[in-house]
Amino acid sequence: MTVKNCKTQLLRDFIIENINKKGKITFAEFMRMALYHPKYGYYNSNKERIGKCGDYYTSPIVHRIFGELLAKQLEEMWRITGEESFTVVEMGAGSGWLCYDIIHYIRKEYPRFYDNFHYIIVETNPYAKKKQRLLLDSIDIDDDKVSWRTYAEDGFSFDRIHGCFLSNEFVDALPVHRLKAKNKVLKEMYVSYNNSGFFEIEDDVSTHEFKEYLGTLRVYLREDQECEINLDASKWLGHVSDKLHKGFVITIDYGDTIDGIFRENDTEGTLRCYYKHTVNKDYYERLGEQDITAHVDFTYLIKVGKLAGLQVTGFTKQSHYLIALGILEKLNNTNTDIETTLKVKNLFHPEGMGEIFKVLIQHKNIENPRLNSLRPLHSITI
Ligand SMILES: C[S@@+](CC[C@H](N)C(=O)[O-])C[C@H]1O[C@@H](n2cnc3c(N)ncnc32)[C@H](O)[C@@H]1O
Repeated sequence: MTVKNCKTQLLRDFIIENINKKGKITFAEFMRMALYHPKYGYYNSNKERIGKCGDYYTSPIVHRIFGELLAKQLEEMWRITGEESFTVVEMGAGSGWLCYDIIHYIRKEYPRFYDNFHYIIVETNPYAKKKQRLLLDSIDIDDDKVSWRTYAEDGFSFDRIHGCFLSNEFVDALPVHRLKAKNKVLKEMYVSYNNSGFFEIEDDVSTHEFKEYLGTLRVYLREDQECEINLDASKWLGHVSDKLHKGFVITIDYGDTIDGIFRENDTEGTLRCYYKHTVNKDYYERLGEQDITAHVDFTYLIKVGKLAGLQVTGFTKQSHYLIALGILEKLNNTNTDIETTLKVKNLFHPEGMGEIFKVLIQHKNIENPRLNSLRPLHSITI
């Protein structure tokens, strides 16, 4: 047995043991173990997940322009919040490229901001943390500029900040519950196991929070229609708001408003697995070896954010956001080969990452902030 197969088997045994204890587990419990088992979970292993040799691409990996434009965004936020000491908290920094590009650019282009700036990385994966440190060591930044902290069920391991919480593809990696309408009754999908393998059971919901969720968002599931609910996202946003004294939250992710999600996915839901740049729905295969992810429901993040004290600054597509931040000028002014140009275009092209990725910006304790990145596109000339 190869090491890879052995890890998959150990994870499988661990999940089966949990199922045997309870009879069945929610899909969210299954997904949490598959992705976050401390040793064998997809997000806690030393597997190459992102990029050519991994399972999918993320924007920071595509090109440094993404991080540089976010650096520009953060500098604007720093000015709006009064040019005081400013802390950026990045959730799930993965390979560390976003942090690297942001810090590198701020140091080069905005020295006054750099002097007032601190970066906190919140990352669970020990291998990713090591890579992040190595990458940052290569640009020789001051020791006190970046620190690593944790996020667990009871919240973050640092004091309240003045600054910005930033995440790219963090929320879509959180475990989701799966719900379905059956004979006009809301049912939840559970996972069980017998000698033939894992199988799914529809049963009563594990918490009444789902009914509240669907009611608040005015979602009416049709017969057999499936949807995913990400309760961890609302808990996370609550903790974010607790720790944000004054500033912004930038959430960039795969997803849409609730209308968009339901329009696009008639009955099947949005849950998918990614493995070596292919998509599948075999959730119970390749355990710990493939990603499992669902679209982010931004309407939900907006609603729970408001309840937690976060106001909406704006919500837009990644294409709009990057164009308003100046990606076209940057592309025009940079001497790049055709291959690089095509890569950068993928960040904002509608058929690339431009439409499916959205950007939600929320704020707290700031009076009606206006960000250049959210201005209407027709007002932009290049
Ligand atoms: C899909 S990856 C995105 C990586 C990176 N942001 C990018 O865009 O390339 C999700 C990241 O979130 C991290 N993560 C998930 N849950 C976490 C938690 N509770 N605390 C910190 N990091 C977490 C994972 O380890 C992983 O690095």
